[in-house]
This record gives sequence, structure tokens and C-alpha cells, in this order.
Amino acid sequence: MKYDVRQLGLISNEEIAAGIFDMKLAYGENKIPVVCGQFAHVYVPGKSLRRPISVCDARNGVLRLVYQVKGEGTRIMSQMKPGASVDVLAPLGNGFRIQSGRRYALIGGGIGVPPMLYTAAKCEDPLVITGFRDASLVILQDDFRRAGAEPLLCTDNGSVGKKGFVTGLLREKMEQVDEICACGPLPMLRAIAELCKEFGKPCQVSLEERMACGVGACLVCAVRVQKNGEELMQHVCKNGPVFNAEEVVWNG
Ligand SMILES: Cc1cc2nc3c(=O)[nH]c(=O)nc-3n(C[C@H](O)[C@H](O)[C@H](O)COP(=O)(O)OP(=O)(O)OC[C@H]3O[C@@H](n4cnc5c(N)ncnc54)[C@H](O)[C@@H]3O)c2cc1C
Ligand code: FES
Repeated sequence: MKYDVRQLGLISNEEIAAGIFDMKLAYGENKIPVVCGQFAHVYVPGKSLRRPISVCDARNGVLRLVYQVKGEGTRIMSQMKPGASVDVLAPLGNGFRIQSGRRYALIGGGIGVPPMLYTAAKCEDPLVITGFRDASLVILQDDFRRAGAEPLLCTDNGSVGKKGFVTGLLREKMEQVDEICACGPLPMLRAIAELCKEFGKPCQVSLEERMACGVGACLVCAVRVQKNGEELMQHVCKNGPVFNAEEVVWNG
């Protein structure tokens, strides 16, 4: 794992939906060495632990992190102003494995949508499905269009897009894709993994766990996986966050 600590200039940090912020950072080089699905560990002044945030985009020298204010750390992040210097440890973890010649379905749920934007930019003609609780939380739809993918939209309450969960849309479109990549809440990932098993399609999921070091040194982010019939513990930060869905022990 090759990562770096950098002080990145904050270009903008705008609220794009209720409590959701879009942080753009100048990387200092045009080509940012990030694989889609990897994450950045952001230092928050006054906090001893960094906050892990997925890379939303990494094109044209701009590292983009889209995050929801959840607690004190992300609240402090949301108050950072353009011109500030942000201490970022990146790129971390293993991202989505994208092969040419395959059609991917990219599924994002809620705050799991941002990493699918850079993933879409790395895929040929991806099928993008985004799901949100309601219209007030919808983000990044135009960004997907600019990246060349028309996102399908659903909301739990039908306030915009199709009413229902991403799994309903995925089931309808399953025959059109070769492989599925997903990021979002655990129940959504579990349901997608079951659907992919039913259709015999490979599936990669990005898992979330509470983190401390972010680099495999502290064991905070351990998850149970199965490989060759054996169960073992792995680190979301170092072995993931992206895992093959069939390796995840869903009730672990
Ligand atoms: C690989 C990965 C990628 C992520 N990508 C995004 C993203 O793109 N956008 C986004 O909004 N959120 C993302 N998260 C979740 C985000 O890290 C947490 O919401 C954030 O750390 C909460 O910090 P806080 O101080 O505001 O909340 P608090 O609850 O006050 O945090 C207390 C401590 O718990 C840790 N923590 C709390 N919730 C989480 C969590 N869900 N995952 C990991 N650590 C947590 C914090 O880092 C901190 O150390 C990601 C998490 C992981 C593991
Ligand atoms: S956060 Fe320390 S090992 Fe993953």
C-alpha cells in the first residue's frame, strides 16, 4: 500500500444537500494516483483520530471528498474555509477492480453514492443506480451525467425518481451487466449480494467500519471474511474497503 501525507489547499467546501458537503482540494499534480473506491484519511484539527472519507473524484488535479456531517469531526470539516490547508493521508485501501470489456452496474445508496462517481469515470458505459431516502438528500446526479453516465434514481418514499430501493432497479437491469460494484448501508449491500448470487453475477462491495489508524496497524476495523472455506479476520482499511461480496460473512 503506497500512501502519502499531504497538505492540500482547500478550493471549496459547499453544502450540496442538507448536511452533505462537497470538499474540493488542490492536489498539486494533475494526475492523482488513486484507484476508484480508495479512501482518504482526513486530519481534523483538535481530534486525535483522522476521519476516513471515500474519494468521490480525482480528476484534473482536484481531490474531491463528499461527506455527511455525522458528529464532531465532520462538523469541524464542514466549517473549513477555502484557502485552508487540509492534512490528508491518501490513497488508502483497495478499491474497485475494474476490467475493460465488462459492463458494470455501479450502485450507490445515500452517502455511499460519492465513490461511485470516480468509479463511473473509470468504466465503459456503466449502468449507474443511485438511491436516497428522499428528494432532499439527492446528490451528484449532474456530475454522473458530466462523467458520461445517466444515473437511474430512486427514493425510499418516491419523492423523486422511482419509488423503492436500488435492488428493485438492479433486478430489472441485471441481464444488461456483467458485474456489480456497490457502496452504501450494510442492509443494502447484503441485499445486493443476495441478488447477485441469485443471478450468478460477481459483486464487489465497499464496507464501512469505525477506523483509527487507517493503515492496518491497530485492528479497530476488523471484519470477518471467508476464503477457501475458512473464516478469518481482515482489516477494512488495508484489505478493503472493497471486498468480493461472496467473501463477506454478512452476519459476522
Ligand atoms: C472507508 C470509509 C469510507 C467512508 N467514506 C465516507 C464518505 O465518502 N462520506 C461520508 O460522509 N462518510 C464516509 N465514511 C464515514 C465517515 O468516516 C464517518 O461518518 C466519520 O468518520 C464520522 O466522524 P465524526 O467525527 O463526524 O463522527 P463521530 O461519530 O463523532 O466519530 C467518532 C469516531 O468514530 C469514527 N467513526 C464514526 N462513524 C464512522 C464510520 N461510519 N466509519 C468509520 N469511522 C467512523 C470517527 O472517524 C471518529 O474516530 C466512510 C467511512 C469509511 C470507513
Ligand atoms: S483502522 Fe487501524 S487497522 Fe484498520
